[in-house]
Amino acid sequence: MFIKIPSVANSGLSSIGVDVEVNVLKRGMPAFEIVGLPAKAVSESKERVRAAISNSKIKFPPRKIIVTLAPADVPKEGSCYDLPIAIGILLTMIDFKTPEKSLFFGELSLDGSLRHTKGALLLALFAKQNGFKNIFLPASSANEAAVVKGVNIYPVENLTQLIDFLSGGEKIKEAEYVEKKEAFFQEFDMNEIIGQESAKRALEIAATGGHNMFMVGGPGSGKTMLARALPGILPLLDEKESLEVTKIYSASGNIPPGGSLIKTRSFRSPHHTISSVGLTGGGTFPSPGEITLAHRGVLFLDELNEFQRSALEAMRQPLEDGHVSISRSKERVVYPSKYMLIASANPCPCGYLNHEMKSCQCTEREVEKYRKRISGPLLDRIDMHIDVPDVETKKLSLTNKEKEKMEPSENIRKRVEKAREVQKERFREDGILTNSEMKNKHIGKHVSLTREAENLLQSASSKFSFSARSYFKVLKLSRTVADIDEKENVETNHVAEALQYKIQNH
Ligand SMILES: Nc1ncnc2c1ncn2[C@@H]1O[C@H](COP(=O)(O)OP(=O)(O)O)[C@@H](O)[C@H]1O
Ligand SMILES: [Mg+2]
Repeated sequence: MFIKIPSVANSGLSSIGVDVEVNVLKRGMPAFEIVGLPAKAVSESKERVRAAISNSKIKFPPRKIIVTLAPADVPKEGSCYDLPIAIGILLTMIDFKTPEKSLFFGELSLDGSLRHTKGALLLALFAKQNGFKNIFLPASSANEAAVVKGVNIYPVENLTQLIDFLSGGEKIKEAEYVEKKEAFFQEFDMNEIIGQESAKRALEIAATGGHNMFMVGGPGSGKTMLARALPGILPLLDEKESLEVTKIYSASGNIPPGGSLIKTRSFRSPHHTISSVGLTGGGTFPSPGEITLAHRGVLFLDELNEFQRSALEAMRQPLEDGHVSISRSKERVVYPSKYMLIASANPCPCGYLNHEMKSCQCTEREVEKYRKRISGPLLDRIDMHIDVPDVETKKLSLTNKEKEKMEPSENIRKRVEKAREVQKERFREDGILTNSEMKNKHIGKHVSLTREAENLLQSASSKFSFSARSYFKVLKLSRTVADIDEKENVETNHVAEALQYKIQNH
């Protein structure tokens, strides 16, 4: 007997239709095989399906069973084929019907219950695009799928319940999307950071235009604290961004059971021992790396000099492109990776080069060697370079009155939100959201300088022999400074401030 159940295989952030074909042969020794390029987790499906069926009080058929996942040349990964395989086998044994245009998806536990399975959102998007009407999937993955309107999502607890429903028994109620309220994440509020006015100003500019930033300062000067305060001044994800980010987290199995659309921006801070695959993505079945998990959010590389050079080099191209493509023998996937890179470093191995009070213990050669660990081309791709000097200790104890005067993150965030709305409107027809994403054609269209501003930029460019990339980066940054100032044209003071952040690198 031959049964065909439709399912999907995920490749990056898109899905391909896969047919699960179950063939139960009348002859031959009892056996159970899965063929069609399955990964290890798919092959292990046999054991789970066998146990789940037996533990649902149904005798597993003592026959030769061959399951084919077609097309055979598409790699299949994960445990999502358990349910369609089990349904296929059960259809050859008991009398029930599957409704037309239905997809089955999910991992089975040995006891027959269904477990949260990664990729439910991608599955639902596929279902909608391809005219499927119903999805049967683990109850804990149902909310994630119910984000997509127009497809009936059936939350299934276990195999017995599903078979009962499909045989005309008790109905399974369709899931309705419930939006979970996420706590706004911020580790530090800006009003906890004393002094550092220019670093805070730089953070606000970075947050407004989505610019990358590199902070250099001695140990304990507050670099890590500043970076960790950044999420608190970033606006929530808008609808489109939220779907982009949730798809990434769905594909990589990072959405918890019962999870919903992600609204807060991610803040990723991988340890410096991370490999290039961990940072940029990859693996036999390509999975997204930190630069993709940080999409539309922040990637914080603390102590940049400590990272493996190969990992940083691998990050260079995607940093410019806003996406990363990963090639494997069987497939090529492209993941989005538009994020704010925030990096920090000490100025030298001992950390006190150019310090006002302490003297540096390093030799010139040591300093040079230390700096060489980060490549010039990577630094050239960073829009803003700032110094984070120590705050004088006597300034660190504040009176209550002084404390009240410090601006909380919430206020700054409101300004950032406003300036981001302006940018969104500006780039409505360009398919980008922030100034930092501008390509040269957008710069020509949207950045106009006053004559004096133009002169200033020209003379600074030749004085510091800017590369073409640096020149355009200053233009983008000036646009952001002008946006904070709510000015249509970029003026001299905007260019002057932008130059200050770029010149440090020259
Ligand atoms: N400007 C500041 N205002 C208040 N506390 C600060 C400031 N700078 C540093 N600190 C304190 O010092 C600690 C260490 O700072 P950190 O950000 O880790 O320094 P760095 O990363 O530059 O070595 C912080 O956790 C914080 O408690
Ligand atoms: Mg630190």
